[in-house]
Amino acid sequence: MRIIASAILMMWGVGAAAEGLPAPLTDADFAPVDAAEARLGQLLFFDPILSGNRNVSCATCHHPAFGTSDGLSLGLGDGGIGLGTERVADPQNMPEQRIPRNAPALFNLGAHEFTVLFHDGRIEVDPDRPGGLRTPLDADMVTGFASLLSAQTMFPVLSADEMAGHYSENDVSQAVRRGVITGPGGAWDIIARRVAGIPAYADDFAVVYDHVDTPDQISFADISNAIAAFMAFEWRSDSAPFDAVLRGEISLPAPAATGMALFYGAAECASCHSGPFLTDHQFHAMGAPQIGPGKAARFESHARDEGRFRVSGDVADLYAFRTPSLRNVMLTAPYGHAGAHSDLHAFISAHVDLQAGMASYSIDAATLPDLPVDDLRGMADAAAIAQAISYRAPQISAADIDALMAFLAALTDPAARNGRLGVPDTVPSGLPVDRLR
Ligand code: HEC
Ligand code: HEC
Repeated sequence: MRIIASAILMMWGVGAAAEGLPAPLTDADFAPVDAAEARLGQLLFFDPILSGNRNVSCATCHHPAFGTSDGLSLGLGDGGIGLGTERVADPQNMPEQRIPRNAPALFNLGAHEFTVLFHDGRIEVDPDRPGGLRTPLDADMVTGFASLLSAQTMFPVLSADEMAGHYSENDVSQAVRRGVITGPGGAWDIIARRVAGIPAYADDFAVVYDHVDTPDQISFADISNAIAAFMAFEWRSDSAPFDAVLRGEISLPAPAATGMALFYGAAECASCHSGPFLTDHQFHAMGAPQIGPGKAARFESHARDEGRFRVSGDVADLYAFRTPSLRNVMLTAPYGHAGAHSDLHAFISAHVDLQAGMASYSIDAATLPDLPVDDLRGMADAAAIAQAISYRAPQISAADIDALMAFLAALTDPAARNGRLGVPDTVPSGLPVDRLR
């Protein structure tokens, strides 16, 4: 009976081009989420209380109005004012530099399949380590985090340019500067004590976590776990037209169907953008233009970003970056690890002809708040640029790119776009909530 039904579907064209298509997603692909924990996490995600100067929240760079990113090629954390493409440098508190990488979208990070995070994969699930995670921080710091997604929160709050602030501006940045991160009086504890000192949070934590009876028992890991629960719940995205295709319920209309056939066939996109999230979770040097400050180590002065090589030390990984998931890609501009292209069509044109894309790149393609810096230093490094181009795509015409764009539009999920809990009206600290005006 099953066989007959699928044979009929094939005759109708439903499931055609199914070659190489992943199986549809189900609840089993996602970690379960506690609703009360996610609601607490929603407040924390939007609350600037977690930042040293109480002026930047997670949502400043990961906002639903900008597809869980910020609409900028390279954003501004501490030292910026305004949201998304309206964000500008604050003349009273000028940022030292741009954030060196594009803020990624946060869709589906609660799925079991995501065991590596960041553009260079510098944090990952590793059962052989204490705490089960590998991070650039000492392994014994990593305790109490329920998941990799939760452990991720340790990083933005310590970064001077993202959330901590500079020099001795505040208690968090002072602790970071002195290198006091863990333990009582460390940067994470200072943040936890701030949150615990707000009665509405203290009550919520006591309700959500059995091990919290009094506010002094609230730890940074609890805060992180709540935020992770929120992200997993809010931005699970498995109800796009593409998902209906995977379930065999619909077939895509003309240009999108052609694009899907190309994506899984002649255009070879699925050799890297594979699986239900359209990523192999691997690293490839794809010659995406390098703009902005790059990632020089301390005492170095170049503007390169060596990508995965910075983590693995393997020259085969030079300039390789993690394959991004393409879910909701229409909403997550700009594109590439440095966000060099604001326009998706232009990004793909360059992505399928890396030499030409690099050679013809103009900074006008980026979306950058004014800052007195040279954003093209990295592009002047000819040797680095040559090494960053390691892939040769098959011949792809302009019409093919239009078809691919139509397919990518079928990855937009109305449920994830609107979010589930949304932007809170207020947060317990009473600080302003990032929202579009
Ligand atoms: C100033 C902007 C900024 C702020 C504020 C910020 N982030 Fe990010 N976020 C980024 C950038 C940029 C990256 C990519 C960094 C990299 O790959 O090196 C990132 C990466 C991530 C990732 C990894 C996504 C992936 O697929 O690899 C998660 C999860 C995340 N941020 C969540 C958060 C949370 C939670 C907060 C608040 C505690 C936060 N971010 C605050 C800019 C920001
Ligand atoms: C060899 C592996 C590989 C192939 C083949 C490939 N990609 Fe990619 N793709 C990547 C990697 C890696 C990145 C990130 C590059 C970077 O940021 O430096 C990327 C980035 C992208 C992005 C930007 C997403 C974002 O959020 O920034 C889009 C869109 C995209 N690819 C679409 C495609 C399409 C369409 C095809 C087929 C024509 C394709 N890719 C073929 C590996 C690949």
